[in-house]
Amino acid sequence: MRNAPELMIVGAGGFARETAQAVAAINAVAVNTGRPIWRLLGFLDDDPLLHGRRVDGLPVIGGADLVESLPQAQLVVCVGNPRRYDTRMRIVERLGLPEERYATVVHPSAQISADSSIGPGSVILAQTVLTASVEVGAHVAVMPHAVLTHDVSASDFATIASGVRFGGGVSVGRGAYVGAGALIRENVKIGAWSMIGMGSVVLCDVPAAQVWVGNPARMLRDVDAAPGETAPENTDVEVKERLA
Ligand SMILES: CC(C)(COP(=O)(O)OP(=O)(O)OC[C@H]1O[C@@H](n2cnc3c(N)ncnc32)[C@H](O)[C@@H]1OP(=O)(O)O)[C@@H](O)C(=O)NCCC(=O)NCCS
Repeated sequence: MRNAPELMIVGAGGFARETAQAVAAINAVAVNTGRPIWRLLGFLDDDPLLHGRRVDGLPVIGGADLVESLPQAQLVVCVGNPRRYDTRMRIVERLGLPEERYATVVHPSAQISADSSIGPGSVILAQTVLTASVEVGAHVAVMPHAVLTHDVSASDFATIASGVRFGGGVSVGRGAYVGAGALIRENVKIGAWSMIGMGSVVLCDVPAAQVWVGNPARMLRDVDAAPGETAPENTDVEVKERLA
């Protein structure tokens, strides 16, 4: 364990905690060979109320900017709130680190074909399947039980919630959020920063920066704020949840 590379998780909410569990699962598998993969140091979160506390047994060491004082540690930015899904990009842009600083975390139960690729900073959670020639960009979050079939691409900062099923050749634009359990027809293009509501059935292309819902999916509205516009990163509700 002493020589295992260090890892920090930025964020301490639900997705960050799930990623910590994925890292534990990776290490549990690797320990059978005597070579644990990561030494997980803990969480970094900009919420000062969390600093010095423990979340799921791991310390919240400080704010995200502490990465500068931990040059040996790799990191993953694990914020994925569907109400403010551009936050991951804003943190990565603020940190301004080279891509070599970012780890790629893949749960050991995920099935990743040899010809698929996953970019730096991306996290693939349990039971997800990438069948053939799937391209996952940088800082992409893929929640449990997602199925990305042949030739699907997910651009940087996209979020694929749990149980999403993609037909072949679907492309998910930069920063788009595909809600839990959505079904996406083959070859459909989902525009950058769009949101697909949970359980939706998407049959045609979705333009950028729109919210689509239903079966068949229709436009509900434009997204609330263009990426990069400031929104509060921590609500009282989230803080209480994390401290519970
Ligand atoms: C799409 C979404 C962002 C809309 O949120 P919202 O803008 O707050 O919308 P509201 O809840 O005010 O609903 C507005 C209308 O859309 C409908 N609607 C909302 N989400 C819907 C969905 N997923 N499917 C079908 N209709 C939906 C509501 O019934 C409502 O219809 P009405 O005006 O006829 O009453 C949200 O419902 C959603 O699906 N988020 C994704 C959540 C998710 O996947 N979480 C995963 C965590 S791992």
